[in-house]
Amino acid sequence: MAAKLLLLARFSLTSAQSATTPIFCIALSSLSTYTIQSPPSNTGAEPPRTASFITSGSGPYPAPMIADSSLPSHIICAPKTPPGGNLSMRFIAWANGACQTDGNYYRNFLTEFVSWGHVISADRAPSAGAGGATNYANIDTAKIATTGHSCGGLEAMSTGYHNTRFMLMMLFDIAIFTDDKRYLLKELKLLHGLLCEKDYALLPTGLPAYWASLDTGHQGTYSTTNGGKFGKAAVAHLQWQFSGNTTSKAICQDAKAPESLVADN
Ligand SMILES: *[C@@H]1O[C@H](CO)[C@@H](O)[C@H](O)[C@H]1NC(C)=O
Ligand SMILES: *[C@@H]1O[C@H](CO)[C@@H](O)[C@H](O)[C@H]1NC(C)=O
Repeated sequence: MAAKLLLLARFSLTSAQSATTPIFCIALSSLSTYTIQSPPSNTGAEPPRTASFITSGSGPYPAPMIADSSLPSHIICAPKTPPGGNLSMRFIAWANGACQTDGNYYRNFLTEFVSWGHVISADRAPSAGAGGATNYANIDTAKIATTGHSCGGLEAMSTGYHNTRFMLMMLFDIAIFTDDKRYLLKELKLLHGLLCEKDYALLPTGLPAYWASLDTGHQGTYSTTNGGKFGKAAVAHLQWQFSGNTTSKAICQDAKAPESLVADN
């Protein structure tokens, strides 16, 4: 699923922000140093082909995006009504491409995750908070993932690489820019992720990891209906890793399985 090249940097707008730049991110001012030889492409041999319209996701838990005044810097993506019974949903921290605070571009993709049993928080521009949290769903706190696209993938990697509270890290269309940080890949404690070929080859032996590639260019299929093939792949991967769903595992690995990602590539 990781498209061919993975090129965006954190926008370090103020000195205060750059003081807390996540470890794998770079300053925007250095971006051209890394992109000059392989400029990012927004198209590939397989551009998004499906129509783009907003749904509630294809899974059993229809989802909207919600701005909750108790979380002034985040958007919550959760089921419309908390699932009944004892269902515990999985939790995903999502970081947007370009490290932006507007996650609307990913709306279809994130809604698809939620409809299959996940609650998501994503960055948004800070606004005044009023307090008083809402109950969205029961959360299984053993099943938390840190994920993101492009610059957001670097934020997700920075957040998760030493943090064993996450069960899963999923990185979309991203590579570590600076060779002098690449040794840190050896310190990764979790991955099950989706990152670029060069970094994938450097992962510690024995670290469970999954690499997928679809040549869509850097913008992926996030904005198409239900997140297109990226949505399908991400959900299958989450169902396999979080729930041990063998149908989803086969979708990820077996070219002969119905709906196989391998055959659909
Ligand atoms: C929820 O779990 C409790 C304890 O395991 C059980 O007694 C109860 O019947 C369950 N409720 C539902 C709706 O599944
Ligand atoms: C397992 O995954 C398949 C394919 O995504 C889905 O149709 C099915 O509902 C999942 N099963 C469970 C128990 O979640």
